[in-house]
Amino acid sequence: MSTTHKLTLLPGDGIGPEAMVEVKKVIAWLESNTDLAFDLTDDDIGGTAYERYGVPLADETLEACRNSDAIIMGSVGGPQWDSVDYDKRPEAGLLRLRKELDLFANLRPALVFDALVEASTLKPEIVKGLDILIVRELTSGVYFGEPRGIEDLGNGQKRGINTQSYTTEEIRRVGKVAFELARKRGNKVHSCEKANVMESGKLWREVITELHAAYYPDVELHHMYADNCAMQLLRNPAQFDVIVTDNLFGDILSDEASMLTGSLGMLPSASLGAPGIPGLYEPVHGSAPDIAGQGKANPLATILSFSMALRYSLNASAQADLLEAAVKSVLEKGIRTPDIMAEGCTEVSTGAMGDALIDELSSALQKAA
Ligand code: IPM
Ligand code: MG
Repeated sequence: MSTTHKLTLLPGDGIGPEAMVEVKKVIAWLESNTDLAFDLTDDDIGGTAYERYGVPLADETLEACRNSDAIIMGSVGGPQWDSVDYDKRPEAGLLRLRKELDLFANLRPALVFDALVEASTLKPEIVKGLDILIVRELTSGVYFGEPRGIEDLGNGQKRGINTQSYTTEEIRRVGKVAFELARKRGNKVHSCEKANVMESGKLWREVITELHAAYYPDVELHHMYADNCAMQLLRNPAQFDVIVTDNLFGDILSDEASMLTGSLGMLPSASLGAPGIPGLYEPVHGSAPDIAGQGKANPLATILSFSMALRYSLNASAQADLLEAAVKSVLEKGIRTPDIMAEGCTEVSTGAMGDALIDELSSALQKAA
């Protein structure tokens, strides 16, 4: 007996749609070759939704998302929407989706595949075997704090305002996710803020310290200022296991951590809320409008995001293992999209990367039979 998993697919803008085509190949393969079954709903988010519905996330799309088991997203944004009002910009659609579903814990693994060690701008001995998980708070902080806006000071000057704010509970719940995940990995958490200059950082440190003492004394905990963390990620990234941090620092540190791995095109993410709420799975990379539609995009980050959905939302970790092993083999065979191309490897298009992955899945299955 197999259950049917309801997925909402939101390809979005730029390279999002072409990456999603490759995810669909993987879904079709899983349907024919495993006992998984899927019920797919396609919809729009970001600029493409703005063109279709006049808003970057329509109410009916949000409803479809709520009613699914997981949401797989491509990417949002593009220069053609630069002059659109903030609340209608492509990014606002994504922010609304995160907020409405209260997806407060954003998991961003930065994993260096052995085959890609040379792709990093850092020395191989610094990044080899790297496996960091950034847990970014995603529904509060300066992204959503009030007051916000641009006010006219009346003297020819304006003032732009954003507010950083965190409550005890907002810090606690993301801290719990980080400690729980650390126990399943390297059992170490670095909590990053700016407690030296920000009250919200001071509270963050207090809450994490109390949570740790009360429930997670077995986990190794370090507090680190976020600027120091940015530096340490380049100096000695191997010291990190799980990093837990706020929304804005997490945005920045996860981009930095992703570059350690050599390509932004490889990194997936999961955004999780309370039990029973569908998770949102999306690549860390943006919409890369400069290469969109040319078959140059690396679909692996979106495919690996789908793999995280199998693991965290669909209770299908065996299939996630299969898919992740196939990604590893493809890379070991030297099959590369332009972003991770190296000497002696074979450069392939977005579609050919997806096909290579399918071939790999099929031969793994044959070997296992
Ligand atoms: C990310 C992106 C988003 C963010 C944008 C697209 C709103 O940079 O997911 O990291 O800032 O959170
Ligand atoms: Mg970002």
